[in-house]
Amino acid sequence: MSNHRPAWVPDEVDIERPSAARMYDFYLGGSYNFAADRTLAEENLRNWPDMPQIARANRAFLHRAVGYLSSMGVDQFLDLGSGIPTGGNTHDIALALNPQARTVYVDVDPVAIAHSIVLLQDVPNATVVHADLRDVDTVMKHSVVPDFLDLSRPVGVIMLAVLHFVSAEDDAPGLVRAYRDVTAQGSYLAVSHGTADYQPENARGASQLYTRASHRLTFRSKTEVAELFTGYELAEPGLVDIIHWRPDPADDRPDPLGADVARYSGYVAVGRKPAP
Ligand SMILES: C[S@@+](CC[C@H](N)C(=O)[O-])C[C@H]1O[C@@H](n2cnc3c(N)ncnc32)[C@H](O)[C@@H]1O
Repeated sequence: MSNHRPAWVPDEVDIERPSAARMYDFYLGGSYNFAADRTLAEENLRNWPDMPQIARANRAFLHRAVGYLSSMGVDQFLDLGSGIPTGGNTHDIALALNPQARTVYVDVDPVAIAHSIVLLQDVPNATVVHADLRDVDTVMKHSVVPDFLDLSRPVGVIMLAVLHFVSAEDDAPGLVRAYRDVTAQGSYLAVSHGTADYQPENARGASQLYTRASHRLTFRSKTEVAELFTGYELAEPGLVDIIHWRPDPADDRPDPLGADVARYSGYVAVGRKPAP
């Protein structure tokens, strides 16, 4: 996509200001990004060249996590910070396993919303809400959410590669707790989260670069990511490096980063809200 302003771009979008959502789209080879996004993303690739493989590993985790939740009987999903739709979105994965499954996407990025609306116009089982996930009340009371999801039953809450855009001041554990408290017993939480535990220099560089983007980065340690799951029972194998969460035994392709967890620098887990 060139630097000109395509007709579909919502008025409120400043295409000169790099967006975390559109930079991620660029890492994944998508075309919903502008010159300013690509320039900053390319700078980050010089700092951290593994970013496209990390992004793909994150999408592969989404696939495995939604597959697992579906196998546990979850048939409604709330995908917070869902991003610009790309291959294998939550509703695609869920519907392939259960044609009744319902998905609500939430994102704050207007391009992610605009593209999601177009993609979902003929998909009755999925919809999108333009909101900031830090405002839990607005998300959960938005007319679409209680209409679309039966909140008296378990929901799969998906927060992939988004909580590292929530700062310490915004209290990520408190936000996760708030979503936990408004979802039914038996609901699940899936999280992937970037860390500086392995490659602090790359992480520092990325944090600096993203001060010029729509969202700043806050990497968290393994202990801090574990804290996000307070009040959840972790599904096996617990909180692990992204490539080690229930890898597909049928996938015999060589790992693009030599299965080096330091190069992936991301933790993931899935937890279940138990009975009180
Ligand atoms: C790296 S992308 C991840 C997309 C998708 N979850 C995935 O893992 O493939 C992060 C997304 O989180 C969104 N995001 C960041 N902060 C947010 C917030 N406070 N509320 C809602 N969405 C947010 C960004 O707009 C972006 O689309």
